[in-house]
Amino acid sequence: MSKKKRLLTGLRPTGKFHLGNYVGTFEKDYELQSSGEYECFFLIADLHSLTTGYETASQIGDDIREGVLDFLAVGIDPNTSTLYLQSLIPEVSELFLLFTMLVSATRAQRIPTLKEQIRDLKLESASLGLLSYPVLQAADILMVRGEVVPVGKDQMSHIELTREIARRFNQLYAPVFPEPEYLEARFPVLPGTDGSPKMSKSIGNTIMLSDDAETVRKKVMAMYTDPTRLRATDPGHVKGNPVFTYHDAFNPNHDEVRDLKARYTRGKVGDVEVKQKLVAALNQFLDPIRERRAEYERQPGLLEDILAEGSRRARAEARETLALAREAMGLNYFPKARELVDASLSHTAAHA
Ligand code: TRP
Repeated sequence: MSKKKRLLTGLRPTGKFHLGNYVGTFEKDYELQSSGEYECFFLIADLHSLTTGYETASQIGDDIREGVLDFLAVGIDPNTSTLYLQSLIPEVSELFLLFTMLVSATRAQRIPTLKEQIRDLKLESASLGLLSYPVLQAADILMVRGEVVPVGKDQMSHIELTREIARRFNQLYAPVFPEPEYLEARFPVLPGTDGSPKMSKSIGNTIMLSDDAETVRKKVMAMYTDPTRLRATDPGHVKGNPVFTYHDAFNPNHDEVRDLKARYTRGKVGDVEVKQKLVAALNQFLDPIRERRAEYERQPGLLEDILAEGSRRARAEARETLALAREAMGLNYFPKARELVDASLSHTAAHA
């Protein structure tokens, strides 16, 4: 039997997730997990959250809880996949530090997401933490020696940097790391309900995975459609119309979608009907997600147990990788001292 490929992806804990996160990440994660062809690692990247929001770290705990619930609600199975918390794996920070030596400051400054963050957050300058954000991401991926990374298009430059780091490390020292591949989602970006190109919490144009049926109905009925169309009898535009983009993404009844599009372009259907059908499709899609979420919410201790078990598995992996990296770099000049220090501390911990 051939070995399964390693898959890793991560999300910053920003609280509850929305449909844009679903089509950008979760959908592919679930599909690949279910294919049985991958060994899957799903990471909650709480340290990455600090790069733009260190003032509000106390909020992160709640955000993690909501985010993990969504991961589980969309069908990530904690028994077959490893769901873990970045900050419970200190080895990732050490690997990150080693990797920072392999990336020039000017290379890091050229990453397009950095400029976007500075602009969006109206920062005067980037902290070193923010500048090295993609290097930390590379440490996440290479820590588990991930080969496949399903993420949205905006993350492509980070995966490219990860590949460069892996290549450089392997050339300089020894072939420890795979060069991970970027896996594109079916809908790399989903427009917002207001018609802007990206669904985003900060804009307030989202439909959340945990929204109830009535909230979904209200949001959809208020959605932006084709502004050039004044009456239901006017021929309308399907392209660039978010209502139809959502139909494409979430309505499994392709015949219905095809029929609606055809009638819309000929001025034979009103926006209300198109939206009502979308409400029905979305609620049907979200129902099992809501049910699973509620089930996990009924067992409050379970979530922490799941994170503990996943993080334990991820950390075991991390230790192995870090040992290989140190070995390759020739960093274990005093192996006995390291052993003694490690042993004495785990002894202390056991008796604390
Ligand atoms: N940067 C990713 C995002 O904002 C989150 C992330 C952190 C990630 N570590 C990762 C994604 C490792 C993939 C792999 O969406």
